[in-house]
Amino acid sequence: MRRWMLTGNWKMHNTIGESVDLARAIVEGIPGRPDGDIVIAPVFTALSAVHEVIKGRGVSLAAQDVFSEEKGAYTGEISPTMLKDAGCDYAIIGHSERRKYFGETDGTVNAKMKKALASGLKPIMCVGETEEEREKGITEFVIGCQVKKGLFGIEGLVGVTIAYEPVWAIGTGKNATPEQAEYVHAFIRAILSETYGNGRSEEVQILYGGSVTPDNIGRLIETKNIDGALIGGASLKSESFISIIRAVSGR
Ligand code: PGA
Repeated sequence: MRRWMLTGNWKMHNTIGESVDLARAIVEGIPGRPDGDIVIAPVFTALSAVHEVIKGRGVSLAAQDVFSEEKGAYTGEISPTMLKDAGCDYAIIGHSERRKYFGETDGTVNAKMKKALASGLKPIMCVGETEEEREKGITEFVIGCQVKKGLFGIEGLVGVTIAYEPVWAIGTGKNATPEQAEYVHAFIRAILSETYGNGRSEEVQILYGGSVTPDNIGRLIETKNIDGALIGGASLKSESFISIIRAVSGR
């Protein structure tokens, strides 16, 4: 049985003080000792302060992005080592908002994946089709390319998490049905199995993302290949994030 993972992607929300308050409310609200991985991804400026609040409390820290170089003349960028220094264990890579607004490609995602893994930072690699691509019937082609190119040249899957986030479901309140999501998750696992073998692919946590709420997480997590969620809006309130944690705990 794979461990579940819930990652709260706070996006560009919250000052340092607000982030610390939210992190504190989350650690205080977690029911008992979590039997899965709980991760939160605040803005860069709040990482260190949030780390102080969550360390040793069963919640891990993620960055929302990472750069593919160690150091140098790359104004505005942050390396995996710097993120680890701030307390991060994870980094989200290739979120569809980064692909859409900041020109991320499967190539930049792949470079970031390689650098993160080489530095001991665990990547959460996001993939997902747009509404137009789904309507055209090319979801599998798009996801297949994103997964294969994103992982190109990466030898093992240790430390790798994949998040399937259909772009049309992000922040829209229009989440994929458990059947739609499970279909793509099984497809992703089959691709991993082709390249890395069945044993390895069975170990990878594949998260669903896109309008996850306390009301819909239950049916999503019951499926065979959905191992958790990447949560935007519903992770910004401690009550809803904790309700989601309660729904998956002890599954
Ligand atoms: P959402 O965002 O839960 O607000 O749809 C998910 C994400 O973008 O990771």
